[in-house]
Amino acid sequence: AADIQDDLARVLITEEEIQARLAELAEQVWAHYDDGQDVLLVGVLKGAVMVMADLMRHLPGSVPMDWMAVSSYGSGTKSSGVVRILKDLDADITGKHVLIVEDIIDSGLTLSWIRANLLSRSPASVEILTLLRKPDAAKVEIDTRWVGFDIPNEFVVGYGLDFDEGYRNLREVATLAPHVYS
Ligand code: PRP
Ligand code: MN
Ligand code: MG
Repeated sequence: AADIQDDLARVLITEEEIQARLAELAEQVWAHYDDGQDVLLVGVLKGAVMVMADLMRHLPGSVPMDWMAVSSYGSGTKSSGVVRILKDLDADITGKHVLIVEDIIDSGLTLSWIRANLLSRSPASVEILTLLRKPDAAKVEIDTRWVGFDIPNEFVVGYGLDFDEGYRNLREVATLAPHVYS
């Protein structure tokens, strides 16, 4: 396969910047949950895999993780905000402190639905941590306790974010060169 770097137009966030920010966020998360007590990290497949893996390794103590996979109803568009669960949590979250871990909040529709769905299961709390957020793309406001970086409303890939399922393995967050789309 060709070198992934040749497909990039511009790196928005470097590997070092991502890791430094996740270390900061991990410290805040740990303090918030009183040294990790009773928190369950919930990742949203597939984009959140890198954030989950690195964030949790910046935490000093043992924490459990669980995963949800969701898909938007309708004709391939995710603008409806109506979501179908492809894989539900393994765990019962009643009385648990849930921290949803995401790669990006774009329109906000995915997380808005997931958050409401998890809140209906009587958890002790639900908070959100996202590495990236696009303020200019927001269609719904989401109460997000931890945000890694606010970015402009451009299509970005890497660090879990895909274009047609590719580029998730890029270590940085970048825009793609025009030739990739043609
Ligand atoms: C992407 C991204 C977020 C969501 C954000 O996931 O990982 O989960 O879209 O978009 P929104 O704020 O407009 O709802 P996607 O549905 O592409 O699935 P993936 O994680 O498997 O790539
Ligand atoms: Mn996703
Ligand atoms: Mg995707």
